[in-house]
Amino acid sequence: MLSSLLAAAALLSPALAIVEPLNTTILGPYGNVPPVYPSPNITGAGGWEDALAKAKAFVSQLTLEEKSTMVTGTPGPCVGNIIAIPRLGFGGLCLQDGPLAIRVTDYASVFPAGVSAAASFDRQLIYERGLAMGAEFRGKGAHIQLGPVAGPLGRSAYAGRNWEGFSPDPYLTGVAMEETIRGIQENGVQACAKHWVAYEQETQRNPTTVGGNITGAILQESVSSNLDDRTIHELYMWPFANAVRAGVSSVMCSYNRINGSYACENSKSLNGLLKGELGFQGYIMSDWGGTHSGLSSIEGGLDMDMPGGLRLYGLAFGPDSYFGGNVTAAVNNGSLDTSRVDDMITRIMTPYYLLGQDKDFPLIDPATADLNTFSPRSTWFDQFVLNGTANRDVRADHDIVIRKLGAASTVLLKNVDGTLPLAAPKSIAVFGNDASEDTQGYYNQDDFEYGTLSSGGGSGTGRLTYLVTPLEAIKIQAKADGSLVQQFLNNTLIATSNISTLVIPQMPDVCLVFLKTWAEEGEDRLSLDTDWDGNGVVESVAAYCNNTVVITHSSGINNLPWASHPNVTAIVAAHYPGQESGNAIVDILYGAVNPSGKLPYTIALDENDYNALPITAVNSTSPYAWQSWFDEKLEIDYRYFDAQNMSVLYEFGFGLSYTTFSLSNLAVVGSQVNAQAAPGAVSPGGNPALWEGVYNVSAIVSNTGSVSGATVPQLYITLPSSAPSTPPKQLRGFEKVFLEAGQSSVVEFTLMRRDLSYWDIVAQDWIVPSGEFGLSVGFSSRDIHLTGTITVAA
Ligand SMILES: *[C@@H]1O[C@H](CO)[C@@H](O)[C@H](O)[C@H]1NC(C)=O
Ligand SMILES: *[C@@H]1O[C@H](CO)[C@@H](O)[C@H](O)[C@H]1NC(C)=O
Ligand SMILES: *[C@@H]1O[C@H](CO)[C@@H](O)[C@H](O)[C@H]1NC(C)=O
Ligand SMILES: *[C@@H]1O[C@H](CO)[C@@H](O)[C@H](O)[C@H]1NC(C)=O
Ligand SMILES: *[C@@H]1O[C@H](CO)[C@@H](O)[C@H](O)[C@H]1NC(C)=O
Ligand SMILES: *[C@@H]1O[C@H](CO)[C@@H](O)[C@H](O)[C@H]1NC(C)=O
Ligand SMILES: *[C@@H]1O[C@H](CO)[C@@H](O)[C@H](O)[C@H]1NC(C)=O
Ligand SMILES: *[C@@H]1O[C@H](CO)[C@@H](O)[C@H](O)[C@H]1NC(C)=O
Ligand SMILES: *[C@@H]1O[C@H](CO)[C@@H](O)[C@H](O)[C@H]1NC(C)=O
Ligand SMILES: *[C@@H]1O[C@H](CO)[C@@H](O)[C@H](O)[C@H]1NC(C)=O
Ligand SMILES: *[C@@H]1O[C@H](CO)[C@@H](O)[C@H](O)[C@H]1NC(C)=O
Ligand SMILES: *[C@@H]1O[C@H](CO)[C@@H](O)[C@H](O)[C@H]1NC(C)=O
Repeated sequence: MLSSLLAAAALLSPALAIVEPLNTTILGPYGNVPPVYPSPNITGAGGWEDALAKAKAFVSQLTLEEKSTMVTGTPGPCVGNIIAIPRLGFGGLCLQDGPLAIRVTDYASVFPAGVSAAASFDRQLIYERGLAMGAEFRGKGAHIQLGPVAGPLGRSAYAGRNWEGFSPDPYLTGVAMEETIRGIQENGVQACAKHWVAYEQETQRNPTTVGGNITGAILQESVSSNLDDRTIHELYMWPFANAVRAGVSSVMCSYNRINGSYACENSKSLNGLLKGELGFQGYIMSDWGGTHSGLSSIEGGLDMDMPGGLRLYGLAFGPDSYFGGNVTAAVNNGSLDTSRVDDMITRIMTPYYLLGQDKDFPLIDPATADLNTFSPRSTWFDQFVLNGTANRDVRADHDIVIRKLGAASTVLLKNVDGTLPLAAPKSIAVFGNDASEDTQGYYNQDDFEYGTLSSGGGSGTGRLTYLVTPLEAIKIQAKADGSLVQQFLNNTLIATSNISTLVIPQMPDVCLVFLKTWAEEGEDRLSLDTDWDGNGVVESVAAYCNNTVVITHSSGINNLPWASHPNVTAIVAAHYPGQESGNAIVDILYGAVNPSGKLPYTIALDENDYNALPITAVNSTSPYAWQSWFDEKLEIDYRYFDAQNMSVLYEFGFGLSYTTFSLSNLAVVGSQVNAQAAPGAVSPGGNPALWEGVYNVSAIVSNTGSVSGATVPQLYITLPSSAPSTPPKQLRGFEKVFLEAGQSSVVEFTLMRRDLSYWDIVAQDWIVPSGEFGLSVGFSSRDIHLTGTITVAA
């Protein structure tokens, strides 16, 4: 009750006293958000001091009305807009989707999705992807890229947005966040790490209202992710710590509630964990429509309301901003301290100066405004001068890194007797509606029956300017090889036909089956099967063709019930590779690139083996009925399967190559570490001592086959028994290594203090447990070749 009362009261009186919306009876033991106030001021720690001084000087010149516009979005040319203050030479801020492309514009590239980036396990390529994306945002005049994504992390196999992020492994996601942010921001473009935090399902991510729109009274609140303090630290916060450490400019709070309190007003999470513990120096913006109060959110740590003032949307989207004029009024009547408002703006402007956005930043491309269906011109309240050049082509040579990453992230799961690479097969049959052109246009916004998937849907998609389809690229290769190509794109026809009656003149040398799996923002997946009867298609083709190669373009985890079919001779998971899809898959199928992608998640033997399912329905009409209990704690993905000792089909970290590799000579160098690091000055990423390398683990990796290729040695640690219950293995190092045939190389992993620590809920600190740590080095989470130990004295 308290919550809806508060929400209702906030509509009228945002200056209402700060109350955490909780009912502990309903929420149970976790329904307890420890209040953390006031919101910490920015200190400029971590090299932001000069920019901070400039930001403070800027803020000191603002009127109160100007201050309210600085913290509140307004409809305009971009997906999010902060209006200019020409008097001070401030040109405003343009915020644009999303994590794999600048979406609302033209002549821009569509990059491989986050899940693909993760599957590459390639730090350098992940960085280069970020660098190229950031260049496109800058080129189009966007100050802020709304990405990368570490929430959802991927707790549930079904969650609709997992592909926008990287991997359910927090270490891998952390590295990917860091490299992406570094790449984006090197262009002078601000990255936005989203969505903070524990945002692990789409179903009921927003409240249910009367009339079904945001203006209606709330019937049921958003789903609440109820999780304990250790789990949030070791899983869901972990990659955000990397993001903050990498100097991310902004963080977006999520739609869900956490322990009963909306993520954009949860003081423990925003003030306590993010600004306090992680020492985040930038600003927190709301997800679009994720703000549910005025003062409660401001005091709880929210710095910018997006998309903000919506009066010109009419009732189509929502009410006016809880910020805006309410900020002015609340300061004027003394219920909101000016120093808090000043800190909000100082946090917004410090990264702006840090990244040199006050100098020579390109003007917004007016095409952005033309394509913006979210806030079309008719909804604008403020004047925007759009005198930049329209339709600027920002793609440069980014197709090169897109193709390279597309191939580097493709995971070879099965390859019987060297089925792949293909050696100029004389007769090829291509099957499946994922092989060829989208017949409905290039907007990537629906699971159309015909068309290969290069991305998922929602705000995290991209608008294609071209797409190389698999069939197109295969035909070019086949022509060069003098092959015959037949194509069958109708899944219904394939699944219901006797293939021998379709194919001429006799069984093809190879049957390439392209399957797809759509996922999008706003919906969770209903099944882990491939779409459009993918299983029926494989069964039908494999009944006839004894050399059936299955390729999936998918958001992530799939059921592969035909994986052991004797005629399915190869399986390739190509995820969402972006606009160079066809070229990237031909590079792999024909061996121009030796596959080196690894699964960034686990494929179970059976769909029913997965835990941590989304909450898809409730039986109660209570406003608080939607509760998601993260009872599995640390046991998600491989941590769960390992802890439960369950067999899986393809484990986390798995992926084949056209060559073979070996590992030898495990060596460990390091000295004694104390259980607890001395408290360091809060700096971005938290206590700096957590990031100190304390052990160096090395091994020799050799290419023992006959072709060159890359592999990914992986280091997993096992905590000593003195630690509280922890999954048996956790990834704490990986490196992609390219080796010529016969070549060897030393691979090194630096274990940082935090890699050896668990979060101690009593000490409220990271603790290195005493005793014997297990070290496992291998080519997947279950293909361990070397083991060793580290002993930490009590
Ligand atoms: C202060 O202003 C806010 C915003 O208009 C209003 O909601 C609140 O009731 C006012 N508080 C007081 C104490 O006047
Ligand atoms: C909390 O929920 C319980 C169970 O529905 C209800 O009896 C109680 O009145 C609620 N408390 C508050 C403060 O709303
Ligand atoms: C969630 O609840 C747990 C258990 O009461 C508590 O330890 C933790 O600090 C809470 N976290 C947040 C972000 O509210
Ligand atoms: C932030 O700084 C202002 C003055 O600059 C000060 O009044 C306020 O107390 C500080 N707030 C916190 C939380 O330290
Ligand atoms: C939204 O809901 C309100 C309240 O039920 C209703 O009056 C309004 O017409 C709805 N607006 C739209 C665009 O559906
Ligand atoms: C204050 O917030 C409410 C709720 O969003 C909104 O309806 C109202 O218009 C706001 N007031 C001003 C002056 O912006
Ligand atoms: C764009 O318009 C602004 C405001 O009128 C002006 O200051 C600026 O010089 C113009 N820039 C270009 C490139 O025309
Ligand atoms: C696909 O094949 C089915 C079954 O033969 C047929 O009913 C359907 O019309 C075909 N679709 C197209 C687009 O040809
Ligand atoms: C498929 O068609 C071929 C050729 O007509 C025939 O020999 C074969 O028996 C058929 N298979 C099935 C399962 O009907
Ligand atoms: C595999 O393909 C062959 C044709 O080469 C076919 O005779 C056989 O039945 C297929 N096996 C299965 C299990 O479908
Ligand atoms: C498939 O069947 C053909 C003809 O029966 C045979 O020549 C070929 O070796 C078989 N291929 C595989 C991969 O079993
Ligand atoms: C709702 O109630 C029905 C009947 O008691 C039960 O079968 C079902 O599992 C319940 N669903 C949820 C989500 O609790």
